[in-house]
Amino acid sequence: MTTVTVNASTSYDIIIGRDLLKNTGELCAEVLKPCKLCIVTDDTVASLYLETVEASLCASGFDTMRFIFSHGEESKNTHTLVELLEFLAASGLTRSDCLIALGGGVVGDLCGFAAAVYMRGIKFVQIPTTLLAAVDSSVGGKTAVDLRAGKNLMGAFHQPTRVICDYLTLDTLTPEIFADGCAEVIKYGVINDKDFFEIFKKGIKENIEEVIARCVANKRDIVEKDEFDSGKRQLLNLGHTIGHAIELLSDFTITHGSAVSIGMVIVTRAAVNTGLCPKEDLELLLDTLNRASLPVECNFSAEELASAALLDKKRSGGSITLVVPYALGDSRLVKTPVDKLCEFISKGLEGA
Ligand code: NAD
Ligand code: GLY
Repeated sequence: MTTVTVNASTSYDIIIGRDLLKNTGELCAEVLKPCKLCIVTDDTVASLYLETVEASLCASGFDTMRFIFSHGEESKNTHTLVELLEFLAASGLTRSDCLIALGGGVVGDLCGFAAAVYMRGIKFVQIPTTLLAAVDSSVGGKTAVDLRAGKNLMGAFHQPTRVICDYLTLDTLTPEIFADGCAEVIKYGVINDKDFFEIFKKGIKENIEEVIARCVANKRDIVEKDEFDSGKRQLLNLGHTIGHAIELLSDFTITHGSAVSIGMVIVTRAAVNTGLCPKEDLELLLDTLNRASLPVECNFSAEELASAALLDKKRSGGSITLVVPYALGDSRLVKTPVDKLCEFISKGLEGA
């Protein structure tokens, strides 16, 4: 078992281990007084893990209830949010009670946002069950639901009280959903941790506890310096601006992790072709992504990618901030005028 502590506006531990779900009750009792707990989860995760979590919480003396919604991004909306808030109110949850987010990033974001706004804020515990949620979304306190106008447009910063990461749950993920999470794992190596590539060579799955702990420690270091996302935290968007454009242009048939993988390759190749980044770093990145079964190219033109990227909410006036690898482990924020974006992306497609 590994513990990583986050010291943001509140402090909390991320507990990482194998087969931890059956100890959920004890791990919650370390940070919560006896109270009502509402477990929020989706239908897929509920069928796999809800009973174990519920039994453990009950054995530790918590009074539990459950709120289950249909899996998928389509549920991360204001309708499900209000249903959940009404359920909490009807069940008599008070400010001293707590929510448990059991699932992937969709459950974590929705449950976390409900916890942020219910009675102006109650506690919540994250129990991530996808690799993406384990290494990224369960840590750092970004919570949100989607609006019709776009993803994550209604949200709040609200840190969890504890994160319990049982990586045995990752065994039931499809290979595609596991690979999606690998893109976010590899992202940390490109941002600021070149030595991480030595572990990637040995295998992400084979070294999963060390991999998750290292990702969340990397994210912790960034979040502690810029909790509210006004500077350094934007490094975590590496590959995402072009990635979001790829998701949009493919009508979401290319998954988020696959799109981020291709996005990371495009920005890294652009950096190589403009003399900013060594070529062997691109080769190592391509090799690592291939071994994680992630795609490294797409058929969209630079013009298509640039137009779609400029719809991204990270655009600010006449410029967009790109995350550019000057080397693996040395990514930097580069403010790019919008009229130079297409040229930069063209460089990233040259010689692909
Ligand atoms: P998800 O929560 O939709 O999970 C993907 C699928 O896997 C779902 O169908 C789910 O039911 C299923 N699933 C979950 N755990 C499982 C398990 N152990 N075994 C079998 N199936 C399982 O998606 P995700 O990829 O985990 O998260 C994506 C969401 O995370 C997006 O909404 C994104 O905006 C958000 N996100 C948030 C942050 C943040 O900092 N808050 C960061 C990155 C992504
Ligand atoms: N996943 C991006 C962030 O937490 O800032």
